Amino acid sequence: MQEIKICLTKNPKAKPTDTNNLGFGKIFSDHMFLMNYDKGQGWHDARIIPYGPILMEPSSMCLHYGQEVFEGLKAYKTASGKAVLFRPEKNMERLNNSNERICIPKIDVDFCVEALKKLVEIEKDWIPESEGTSLYLRPFIFAVDPVIGVHPASHYIFCIICSPVGAYYPSGLDPVKIYVEQNYVRAVRGGLGFAKTAANYAASLKAQDEAESQSYAQVLWLDGVERKYIEEVGTMNVFFIIDDEIITPALQGSILPGITRMSAIELLGSWGYNVVERRISIDEVAQAYDEGRLKECFGTGTAAVISPVGELKWGDKKMIINNMQIGEISQKLYDNMTGIQWGKIPDTMGWITEV
Ligand code: COI
Repeated sequence: MQEIKICLTKNPKAKPTDTNNLGFGKIFSDHMFLMNYDKGQGWHDARIIPYGPILMEPSSMCLHYGQEVFEGLKAYKTASGKAVLFRPEKNMERLNNSNERICIPKIDVDFCVEALKKLVEIEKDWIPESEGTSLYLRPFIFAVDPVIGVHPASHYIFCIICSPVGAYYPSGLDPVKIYVEQNYVRAVRGGLGFAKTAANYAASLKAQDEAESQSYAQVLWLDGVERKYIEEVGTMNVFFIIDDEIITPALQGSILPGITRMSAIELLGSWGYNVVERRISIDEVAQAYDEGRLKECFGTGTAAVISPVGELKWGDKKMIINNMQIGEISQKLYDNMTGIQWGKIPDTMGWITEV
């Protein structure tokens, strides 16, 4: 395994004092991890250095053709003061799947988990401790060849930055309002939908902006071919509870394979719920709603955690779910997922990695 060189800052920043109002992704810690890739040499020069600007050429390929992938995970501080990570190897494995899709050289999963642990150990005092807060970790890789030509690059930078965060949605755990998108599409099978790459989020901005202008938090994407089957919400996967089934769209190449999604399926299954991964159309959801069979809807994501959905707007139809209240199962999932993450309940699933 490569050595990670460490150069600590001589000018540590003041840490946020009001950790009940951190917002999301606006403050960055003192250090970052960097590593370079050069064709012929592989990944090299792993280092943790003071957080700051990265020098790159205006011709860097990532700026022109979007060859970039990223991840998101969180470090938590338990009541006994330990810093822990939630399934970090899953993020690094998914990063490699994204890499593969857009021709970025693979990383060594075990080494990158060690890099995360080392960085979090150094930034431990940046992990906020107020209820609902954590240190969001953003690993990302981008192409830096100074070349204007469309082909896979030969030089990359891998970086990890850290941000103390609160809830992603300003409304916290209160149910969010979601707009069912009918004009724009996010991804199609064979495209980039399953990869965590900047392009997917760029493609979502216009719809997100229009939804926000109508006071909706995010959009619910329908499939790009028939414009009928449910895919995912802007920054989270989505689940519907209809009768006694907990349904989430199956992963068929156009949906992000969320790690919180996977963990929710495993937890709900371990409690004996009937969780089904399958195609589900917006018509089926609307019909279940009309018949009083749509009991709950929630999103899952690292940033969003478990986010109840209180309203779905599809054309002129407004579906108010569970009276805009947090459903019983959404609440149970939130309590248990965050309970494991914050070390309040035993990690019987083996998901926690101590730093
Ligand atoms: C995450 O949930 O970690 C994400 O990456 C979603 C987002 C903030 C873009």
